[in-house]
Amino acid sequence: MVADTRSMYTVPKLDDYSPAALDQAARELKSALESESAAIAVEAEWKLLRDRCMARKNGVLTQLNDQWLKAAPAPAKRDVGQRVNELKKIVEEQIDAALTRISSASLASRLDSEGIDVTLPGTRRKLGVEHPLIRTMNEIVSVFKAMGYSVAEGPEVETDYYNFESLNFPPNHPARDTQDTLIVAGQQNKALRERLLMRTHTSPVQIRTMERQPPPVRVIVPGKVHRADTADATHSPIFHQVEGLAVDTNITFRDLKGTLDQAAKAMFGASVRTRFYPSFFPFTEPSADMQISCFKCGGSGRLDSGRCGMCKASGWIEILGSGMVDPNVFGFVGYDARKYSGFAFGMGVERISILKYGIDDIQLFYQGDVRFLEQFA
Ligand code: DAH
Repeated sequence: MVADTRSMYTVPKLDDYSPAALDQAARELKSALESESAAIAVEAEWKLLRDRCMARKNGVLTQLNDQWLKAAPAPAKRDVGQRVNELKKIVEEQIDAALTRISSASLASRLDSEGIDVTLPGTRRKLGVEHPLIRTMNEIVSVFKAMGYSVAEGPEVETDYYNFESLNFPPNHPARDTQDTLIVAGQQNKALRERLLMRTHTSPVQIRTMERQPPPVRVIVPGKVHRADTADATHSPIFHQVEGLAVDTNITFRDLKGTLDQAAKAMFGASVRTRFYPSFFPFTEPSADMQISCFKCGGSGRLDSGRCGMCKASGWIEILGSGMVDPNVFGFVGYDARKYSGFAFGMGVERISILKYGIDDIQLFYQGDVRFLEQFA
């Protein structure tokens, strides 16, 4: 709102320069200005007043000079000059006062409208959840921790010696072909056993653990592994495993079976049964794959709706590889194979997570799509 121009003060011409007439004219100017200044509510109005008073051309101050001082007869000039100076001060004070008043009023109203109630509850961020893969890995690890195993880890960039040779894969042995290895380039001048590669399994941590400590050993090893595989719905060049190793006096295949049966029940439910199938791994002898009875159809291979897709109607699902530690492996770490025996096992975390949660594409684990991830919240 801008002040009504009709009520605006203009500097009158003076005919009478007597002190009484000058007093009267000064009073009129003061009271006009006071009421104009008091009517100002917003900055735009204040600017108009300021410009009208201060403008070089025709501003109130200029007019005082021109109409009063310059027009004054010589004998009155001195007196008029003093009065004009005082009036100038008053005009400036009125303008300043108006500005102070409207800025504190607008601050007060801003504080009113923009005020924050600090007692209101804040905006809560949704809490994140464990990634399904990490969750599965932690679940597996805690099952074994509860049985007295401690956790060990090892490097992902590994030497040929730890990944293969000490696990009884001799150089050029065809067993190496079962793991499509990613080799670090430019190492032709190193001895084979020192050459670096991305570890293809968590088994090298068995060796690293035994090198560090004498028996008894009970370790569980979660970790990331790498293979030269093309990504598709069931393959990923980077995936995860959990490895286990127990070494002591008098460890037998019955300990292996009992431990892994117990773990399978803890992971998949108490009604799950296990069975062991002959297999081959260079670092275990004998070796066995463990299967569990299908937790979806209960092992019958059939559902009310027809054939069970989970176990492909076989009633059994393969879960891990295992075996009794090969005496050659003990030879590499300086354990006395006549005194000690042990068992080892390794399982794929993705596979177990896929089975547990009914996930149909391994790539979902790595894409970071919240629509997938929030289903685990
Ligand atoms: N390292 C094997 C693999 O990646 C899995 C495995 C099998 C680990 C048997 C073991 C074991 O410790 O005893 O295929």
